[in-house]
Amino acid sequence: MKITGKKLVLFSGIQPSGNLTLGNYIGALKNWVDLQGKYDCLFSLVDLHTITARQDPKEFHQNCYDALAVYLAVGLDPEKNTIFLQSHVPAHSQLAWVLNCYAYVGELNRMTQFKDKSEKNKDNINVGLFTYPVLMAADILIYQTCLVPVGADQKQHVEIARDIALRFNNLYGEVFTVPEVYHPPLGARIMSLQEPTKKMSKSDDDSNATIFLLDTPDVIANKLKRAVTDSGKDIYFDIKNKPGVTNLLTILAAVTNESVDNLVSEMQGQGYGKLKSAVAERLIEFLRPVQVRYKELRNDQTYLDSVLKRCAKRAVELSQPTLKRVYEVLGFVSW
Ligand code: TYM
Repeated sequence: MKITGKKLVLFSGIQPSGNLTLGNYIGALKNWVDLQGKYDCLFSLVDLHTITARQDPKEFHQNCYDALAVYLAVGLDPEKNTIFLQSHVPAHSQLAWVLNCYAYVGELNRMTQFKDKSEKNKDNINVGLFTYPVLMAADILIYQTCLVPVGADQKQHVEIARDIALRFNNLYGEVFTVPEVYHPPLGARIMSLQEPTKKMSKSDDDSNATIFLLDTPDVIANKLKRAVTDSGKDIYFDIKNKPGVTNLLTILAAVTNESVDNLVSEMQGQGYGKLKSAVAERLIEFLRPVQVRYKELRNDQTYLDSVLKRCAKRAVELSQPTLKRVYEVLGFVSW
């Protein structure tokens, strides 16, 4: 693995809790692919976060490999980046415990994702769900991360990681790098196809609301045909007044790498039906090679395991200096 050691560190992760969505791609994965090479990147499959919701153990196990194969199929290079399962690197959990003692109940109570998730899962509001942002802070801070590319829904969590880092540094000196959040200029919040004022989400009850990266072309075309659009018939970019059309334009721009302005002038006067079929066509075209690569990779368990093993080793090594320093400044006795 070729890493110069001079580049700044970038860290991000996705929960391997089922099929990854187009939102995960446009809000996160696409930007990781663009940023790899410019940073020393760690891309994690954050399996410890995933168990904050109940998982079927067999499915969960498979989902981890599925998500790894998607990471690689979209173009993340395991020779140049550290791609690993969070549970393979004990320092994440070790640092999370320490940081729990520097995070306040009051600030965790303000996390909108905790409020939303507790509202949706009233029978399982577990402590892990509450301290979830602290584990996320540990993921980021353990590697002295500078940049965290995520979708808009994770902004609050990166901010709390910054707050915890600053608080700790004020008490003990410059132990942690204070990370910056990175959002894509377009597509930091891909919306539900059925309710375009709501985020596209893996766990939406309405199966037409979300496009999964492994959906077949027919399924994608159908979901887009049914996508909710706005009143009127003009095509232009306006989040407030045209949320449905704006979402479709955003998706189209992301998968074609064309500017919204160009797409708007191309689609002008063509009507919503044509816009939907253009999005379907270009998205299917974009996903076709990704799905072919995915199938090849997913069938090669030996290769996937070798990537996990090699990268976990590197992540464990990278995590040690920060953990050591944290224990030292706190006065723990070394052995
Ligand atoms: P998760 O698994 O919910 O989502 C993974 C990434 O996908 C982005 N995303 C979206 N972006 C745009 N539009 C959408 N509709 C959409 N849906 C999801 C998310 O913003 C995220 O970037 N807590 C994190 C995982 C995590 C993490 C970390 C991230 C754990 N530790 C450290 C960065 C750094 C999560 O649950 O993401």
